[in-house]
Amino acid sequence: MINNYSLVDRLMTDGTLSRPEFFTLIEGRTPELAEYLFDKARQVRHAVYGKDIFLRGLIEFTNFCRNDCLYCGIRKSNLSAERYRLSQEEILACCRQGHELGFRTFVLQGGEDPHYTDDRMVGIVRAIRAAYPDCAITLSLGERDRESYRRLFRAGAERYLLRHETRNEGHYAYLHPAGMSLRDRLGCLEDLRSIGYQVGCGFMVGSPGQTTDCLVDDLLFIKEFRPHMVGIGPFIPHKDTPFAGREAGSLELTVFLLGILRLLDPKLLLPATTALGTISPTGREMGVMAGANVIMPNLSPVGVRNKYLLYDNKICTGDEAAECRFCIQRRMLSIGYDIAVTRGDYAGLSGEERRAV
Ligand code: SAM
Ligand code: FES
Repeated sequence: MINNYSLVDRLMTDGTLSRPEFFTLIEGRTPELAEYLFDKARQVRHAVYGKDIFLRGLIEFTNFCRNDCLYCGIRKSNLSAERYRLSQEEILACCRQGHELGFRTFVLQGGEDPHYTDDRMVGIVRAIRAAYPDCAITLSLGERDRESYRRLFRAGAERYLLRHETRNEGHYAYLHPAGMSLRDRLGCLEDLRSIGYQVGCGFMVGSPGQTTDCLVDDLLFIKEFRPHMVGIGPFIPHKDTPFAGREAGSLELTVFLLGILRLLDPKLLLPATTALGTISPTGREMGVMAGANVIMPNLSPVGVRNKYLLYDNKICTGDEAAECRFCIQRRMLSIGYDIAVTRGDYAGLSGEERRAV
């Protein structure tokens, strides 16, 4: 066990471990080791970001999707999903409300919906950029071609979230239908990064078929790719998917991995996700205590909230944006943190990346 504590120490000083060491650290975790890890993770997080929590206002603007990821509640084969799309005006109304509430980053997320052509998306991004020059625009629209990413970047989007989902080929194939490939996903991430976006990758914890080896693949990939943000959250089954009835990912393993990620790159933007808040009422607080520094409250209109259901029992589907914003603030104050009214960029942006902002 002493050995595992020294692995945490080395991860903190070197920023990485070897494959077998990561494996040992994950497999050998205990509640005491986790507390030790979280303490170190908070030390480095406080050194870089202090006690600030960065908010991202999530606008789930379409739940139409051409994909059929086996885990996802809005996959195209789910005929029970009630589909919706938000117009540009509706999206701008969400931003207006968000801005009044102190949000300085808007995240436009949706299924891969062909209705939102490049021209349409460019129009939406330009309109937000013009109305809110002090805000960051993050997109999470799935896989598009390089030219599309480039146009959206030039229109004013500067961050992009595209979880790689798993860095293990066999596992990727297990979670996705034929026709989707890890190679394409990673190619998109490379394109995004080379265009100049601040890029977020990430994965679900405890997705069906995931082994400790898969998690080690993810950690080594993240170390190599050096994203600006990593989104991880527990897998939670959705009743109308092929993975209905499968076991959800664990809170304990998810927060342990958040601690590891914080030590892997102290500057990472690391969200305590809604999925974490869904599997435990204090999941997001535990995520922050393990090293997370970002929370993404929902700004979508209440009328569509309960339609963007990626998994069962999602929280905050009936709450107004303002309620969510102040609920999060209360929760953060209760553990000694507070919301920062700022864009919340990655602390280590290169000169070139800064000029792009
Ligand atoms: N279409 C975009 C994409 O592919 O990146 C964004 C939307 S997608 C629904 C956002 C993320 O939700 C996915 O990357 C996946 O990791 C997560 N997700 C989907 N189904 C989930 C589930 N059942 N449990 C937890 N997370 C899930
Ligand atoms: Fe497309 Fe989930 S299958 S967003």
